[in-house]
Amino acid sequence: MSVLSLEENTSLRPPDAEPRLRKVWQELEEGLLSVSAHASPKYFYDAVGSVLFEAICELPEYYPTRTEAEIFTRHLSEMAHVIGTGATLIDMGAGNCAKAARLFPQLHPEQYVPIDISVDHLHESVTRLQQRFPHIEMTALGMDFSTQWHLPDEVRSEKRLFFYPGSSIGNFDQEHALGFLRQLRAACEGDGDGNADGGILIGVDLIKDSALLDAAYDDALGVTAAFNLNMLRHINRVLGSDFDVRQWQHLAFFNTKLARIEMHLQARSDLTVHWPGAERRFAKGERIHTENSYKYTVPRFLHLLEQAGFGRTRYWSDPSNWFAVIYAQAI
Ligand code: AVJ
Repeated sequence: MSVLSLEENTSLRPPDAEPRLRKVWQELEEGLLSVSAHASPKYFYDAVGSVLFEAICELPEYYPTRTEAEIFTRHLSEMAHVIGTGATLIDMGAGNCAKAARLFPQLHPEQYVPIDISVDHLHESVTRLQQRFPHIEMTALGMDFSTQWHLPDEVRSEKRLFFYPGSSIGNFDQEHALGFLRQLRAACEGDGDGNADGGILIGVDLIKDSALLDAAYDDALGVTAAFNLNMLRHINRVLGSDFDVRQWQHLAFFNTKLARIEMHLQARSDLTVHWPGAERRFAKGERIHTENSYKYTVPRFLHLLEQAGFGRTRYWSDPSNWFAVIYAQAI
């Protein structure tokens, strides 16, 4: 087992720190100072936020996790038959590696490559997993794949299977989703010998009744509200700002026209937020846009895959057609 970190530490630094962290700071500041204020969903996931997300996945209203798991349970042997064994399984956003681990007994990958921004978190889970599956070569990568990335030489170039479950693709708008899929397609080439034998196995959340969607992102216990509001505390630590969580309200709704869930934080009153070098006034009712979660139809997503250079697709879904797991090959 090996663990490689391709990321520097991105903990809190003042704006005069090294260039890369300055960029992070500027990007965040720019978003908050925009006429329509916004902040990246990556700021959900500090220590508290990651635990809250795990709790969201257990909620009765949040159907995606459960529904996807059911699809895998029901169709795993057929998936393994279609995909074949001996893959280089590359887990994009592996977290605790649990979803991929459920594939191992049938998929028998040759190498497992979990990738996550937080390499510390990965280290523990992979160590445990390696003990359970001693015959699978494991190479953990600490890497942010939300922008430009490339895989190190330790990753086998044969039969690369990119595993991207959980409908995380929904955070990208159409243009960036296509860009991301094209990067995966390019990485299927491995060492660039032109014989791409790779593919992708991806979870996609589907368009459905908007009441179901609204409830999934505005649950009765208020866990998603806490998850959204917690971003302000994370931002306070990164920026040194003075957001007061109690002055903000969680807002989530399905935007039918754009086929996406939108999450916002809405000011409960006129207020001003300060941080070193700047401040921002918010009028009562003004919002910070914190997340989009795009929903697809299967044909729409297959078309996107085709545009990215994938084909020979197969998909599996649940009886209500709420969620789809799609396999596509590089062509
Ligand atoms: C992790 C992006 C798949 O969009 O459903 C859950 C994040 N936000 N509840 C999603 C999320 C609010 C989740 N993804």
